[in-house]
Amino acid sequence: MTDPRHLLDIPSLDDATLEWLLSRAGTIRDYAGPGLNGTVVVNLFFEASTRTRVSFELAAGALGARVVNVQADSASVVKGESLVDTALTLTAMGPDVLVVRHPDKQAVHGLADRLPGRVHLVNAGDGGHAHPSQALLDAFTLRQSGLDWPNARIAIIGDLAHSRVARSDLALFGRLGAGELRAAGPETLLGELPDGVRRCTSLDEAVDGADAVIMLRIQTERMDRNGWPDKVVYHAEWGLKPEHLERAAPGCRVLHPGPMNREVEIASEVADGPASLILRQVENGVAMRMAIFEWLVHGLGWR
Ligand code: CP
Repeated sequence: MTDPRHLLDIPSLDDATLEWLLSRAGTIRDYAGPGLNGTVVVNLFFEASTRTRVSFELAAGALGARVVNVQADSASVVKGESLVDTALTLTAMGPDVLVVRHPDKQAVHGLADRLPGRVHLVNAGDGGHAHPSQALLDAFTLRQSGLDWPNARIAIIGDLAHSRVARSDLALFGRLGAGELRAAGPETLLGELPDGVRRCTSLDEAVDGADAVIMLRIQTERMDRNGWPDKVVYHAEWGLKPEHLERAAPGCRVLHPGPMNREVEIASEVADGPASLILRQVENGVAMRMAIFEWLVHGLGWR
């Protein structure tokens, strides 16, 4: 391909690409050929990750690509090298895709302007800004579960103010035509909401008749310690418990992007219960990231 493609955020993806990724993730696990043979992927992570880093690695490996993992605390950033210099150094070694997670919200976009055009850049989460691959796998999981998008009521609950997942989910679910998007959480953790998202003042209001509920953890790494809520108080007011699901629509799905804090934002009976799609999200993360690599390296329509 001559034009470089990056996965930076949801708004920068056009409708055809969104549809292709959501559809391709549904069939790609049957794939057996060496679609990314000879491709080299570098995972460059400046923040902790379990799901995202491992699933990008497994997705690349499943397609025949080679993967190099670079964890910031064991890289030359600890000797003062900047993100841009680290990324330029790595790309000088010839990888095709650079998957980056960073605590600063413009870090990955900033890199897109600095890297050579042949390198594809993937935003694996940048501060509180965007986590597009998580939003795509969330939408794929909801679609796979049979969600009726035009009539769907989807509630996102918890610390939306610091959540890149919430920002990307809301952007994507709006694009996919969700019937109603709701947000709820402590006033101090709700922040500004995109146009069209209904601000609910209680957990009961948010889950009432909901077809899907997405729970978020309190992102303490992005807030002053003085702003950390008491966990017991938080669970009492904002933790999703079995009684809440009785208010939701029949068949309501429960999602959580992880990492999950049991008995804080979600009770174990819910996390492990029949409504939970949490491990399905993790499973689908590999398929979605395989589709993302295919799109980046080969373009739309490749099989
Ligand atoms: N959902 C998510 O980004 O999880 P990790 O931090 O484990 O990658």
